[in-house]
Amino acid sequence: MHTIIKRCHQGNYTFEDLKYLLSVTSEEQTQLLLNEAYQVKCAEVKPIVNLRGIIEFSNICHKDCHYCGIRKSNEFVTRFFMQKDEILESAKWAFKKGYGSIVLQSGERCDLSYVDFVEDCLYAIKEITKGKLGVTLSLGEQTYQTYNRWFKAGAHRYLLRLETSNESLYNQLHPDDHSFLNRKKCLDVLRKVGYQVGTGVMIGLPGQNIDSLVQDVLFFKDNDIDMIGMGPYIKHPDTPMASLDLNLDVQQRFDLALKMIAVCRLVLRDVNIAATTALQAIDAMGREKGIKAGANVIMPNLSDIKYRDKYYLYAGKPCTDENASQCRDCLENRILSIGETINYNHWGDSPHFKKRQASCLY
Ligand code: 5AD
Ligand code: FES
Repeated sequence: MHTIIKRCHQGNYTFEDLKYLLSVTSEEQTQLLLNEAYQVKCAEVKPIVNLRGIIEFSNICHKDCHYCGIRKSNEFVTRFFMQKDEILESAKWAFKKGYGSIVLQSGERCDLSYVDFVEDCLYAIKEITKGKLGVTLSLGEQTYQTYNRWFKAGAHRYLLRLETSNESLYNQLHPDDHSFLNRKKCLDVLRKVGYQVGTGVMIGLPGQNIDSLVQDVLFFKDNDIDMIGMGPYIKHPDTPMASLDLNLDVQQRFDLALKMIAVCRLVLRDVNIAATTALQAIDAMGREKGIKAGANVIMPNLSDIKYRDKYYLYAGKPCTDENASQCRDCLENRILSIGETINYNHWGDSPHFKKRQASCLY
């Protein structure tokens, strides 16, 4: 274990090394892995948590991923689309409370009226916060032109999870008209346009194995990814995948997600890694445990309670009955209680992106 961790520190780990780390099960070895990753986190990105207030502004989705609760074929969902002034109110609130940056997320659409709407919101957010509030987008696969328009309108980070780097597994999780190659291409286009690029995978999917997760980590490394968002797969009862048996129980998926965070921190070092809401859906202390395993970003929900229970991607999504200000107070106490501080009023870009940019200039 110590030899493998040392190789990770030196950057000369092997595929088998990463497989070993993700496979440890004893309490002692797991704790050793998580502690090492936490030390790397403190050294590379400090014992600091960056906040991104997330606004889930619409659950209307034109895609039909087999695992997702807001897929277009789920007729039990009451669809909503927030008004521009509601989005701006949330953004203003986040800015006033020192959140530093927000994420706009919605179901996937690419029609022109939607693209225009997002662009309009971006310009307005930049105007009311004098360009000071950072904006990340998480709006799925779009064209080069759309990504470019939104970048020009002020968005500077983009999250697009690959879901898995294993093409055949990807194809099992999605209908035939969802393209793995296009999704990968989108990550390249986003980087070309100038975004800080985030991606990630679900952990504990039916048909996924440890080899596939090692491939995921290597994909992040090879593609120079700036930000990672990963979480355990959680069944949503009204999706086609709900009937599939899983290899791992819920606790095992949670533990594996923490190990993935730790291995990503050991391998990727200076990237931003989110402790995602899916962790908290399984364990009330899930996000704190994610931070202690090497994550450095938390994304508190800013959406109004009336919309939250309609944005169920998976079962048991937490905090659907708390408003944004309750969320903020509870989160601050939780972060302080694990010996970390919050990076208020900063965008909290990943040092990896800054280095990548600097190396492009010279
Ligand atoms: N379990 C866990 N994560 C899910 N997501 C969607 N459905 C589920 C689920 N059932 C994640 C996907 C997507 C992100 C917005 O939410 O990774 O990219
Ligand atoms: Fe909406 Fe997958 S179901 S993007």
